[in-house]
Amino acid sequence: MDMVAEVAQRERPKLIICGASAYSRDWDYARFREVADSVGALLLADISHPAGLIAAGLLADPMPHCHIVTSTTHKTLRGPRGGIIMVGKDMENPWGLTTRKGVVRKLSSLLDSAVFPGMQGGPLEHVIAGKAIGFGEALEPSYKAYCGQKAVDCKRGNVRALDKSKPQRKPASRNGRLDASGI
Ligand SMILES: Cc1ncc(COP(=O)(O)O)c(C=O)c1O
Repeated sequence: MDMVAEVAQRERPKLIICGASAYSRDWDYARFREVADSVGALLLADISHPAGLIAAGLLADPMPHCHIVTSTTHKTLRGPRGGIIMVGKDMENPWGLTTRKGVVRKLSSLLDSAVFPGMQGGPLEHVIAGKAIGFGEALEPSYKAYCGQKAVDCKRGNVRALDKSKPQRKPASRNGRLDASGI
C-alpha cells in the first residue's frame, strides 16, 4: 500500500480503482480511501469476482469506504449475466456539473444518465428479474453456507495444486494463499 500511496502522490489521479480478476487476497479498502482522499481522487472498487463472498460476509465490505462499487452479477454472486453500479453515501459530483436549473448534480445522477441514455439500450426485464432473484438468494443462510464451502474448496484445491508429490497443475495462486478468487 505504500507504493499505491507513492504512485498516487506522483500521478495525482482523478479516480483510483481497486478490485481485480486475479488477486487472491482481500483488499484494504479503508487504506485505499485514505490514499484517494490524500489526492482528492474518487475511489471505485470493482468487486466482480468476490461479490458473493462479500455478500456472505466472508470478505471485507467496500461500501463504507468507496464512492462507487461495481460488480458483475454472474460470478460468485451466482446471478444471471449482468452488472451493477452502487453508490453508498451519495454526494455532489466533485466537478460541479449542474442541471439546467443550476443545481449541482449528485454522483448517482451522473452515473444514472451515463448508463441510460448514455450506454444502455432497452432494459432486459427478464435479466433484471433474474438479478432480483439472485440478490434474494444471496440473503439466505443457505447461500452463506454455499460460499463458505466454496472458499474451503478453493483453499483445498490450491493446497493440492501446490503439492509437489502430486501430478502438477497450476496453483490457483502463486503465494499459496487464496481468500478471494473463485477460480
Ligand atoms: C474484475 C472484473 N471486472 C469485470 C469483469 C467483466 O466480466 P464479464 O467479462 O464476465 O462481463 C471481469 C471479468 O472477469 C473482472 O474480472
